Amino acid sequence: MTRILGISGSPRKGGNSDTLLKHILAGAKRTGAITEAIHLRDYQFLGCIGCEKCRKAKKCIGLQDGMQLIYPKIKKAGGIVLTNPTHNHNVTAWMKAFIDRLYCYYNFSEERPGSWSSRLAGQNRKAIIASIGEQNSYEEGIGFALEAMRIPIKDLGFEVIAELPVLGVFGKGGIGKDVLQQAEVLGSELAKQLGSARSVA
Ligand SMILES: Cc1cc2nc3c(=O)[nH]c(=O)nc-3n(C[C@H](O)[C@H](O)[C@H](O)COP(=O)(O)O)c2cc1C
Repeated sequence: MTRILGISGSPRKGGNSDTLLKHILAGAKRTGAITEAIHLRDYQFLGCIGCEKCRKAKKCIGLQDGMQLIYPKIKKAGGIVLTNPTHNHNVTAWMKAFIDRLYCYYNFSEERPGSWSSRLAGQNRKAIIASIGEQNSYEEGIGFALEAMRIPIKDLGFEVIAELPVLGVFGKGGIGKDVLQQAEVLGSELAKQLGSARSVA
């Protein structure tokens, strides 16, 4: 069965990122995926401290915090969905800390600068990324937020099958019905693409 893990980076409970995530996962569930939503604000965790212990251990052992509850969920998920409220043209502090903590999935060579490869790569993992912002123009609003998720998620070995920028939404509940419908279609597409390929152990 295809597992899809949805991750909201918003500090606002029941806000726009949570709503968008709910709809993307609803579409995926309807198409047969097992879905789970987590909200980073509910986990106590730090950003990566750069201890580099994961180079040898092949897992994060430098910080025993809430990320230790999230790692097994990532490992099992063939698909991930990241929804983020744009903060200062970028991802939120929660989302950035989360992404940095995925550093433990890399193998590195000894030379400097060294080459690297992700232990999550080559397993047909796929992702959807979305960022919501108040401003109507992409440049003044969302800015780097999608890029800040896309590049590291691709590096980790996920194919980003869709990117959803949601512009002009400030207050809770402000996402239009058409966008929520689009979100469900994307979730369904993610489940379809994952379902037609070998599932992740
Ligand atoms: C600290 C902070 C910074 C923000 N920076 C931006 C921004 O740079 N561009 C933008 O379009 N909206 C910005 N916003 C507005 C939020 O992205 C917007 O209200 C979004 O809908 C919130 O989503 P949420 O309900 O999931 O938290 C900012 C909001 C906060 C609280």
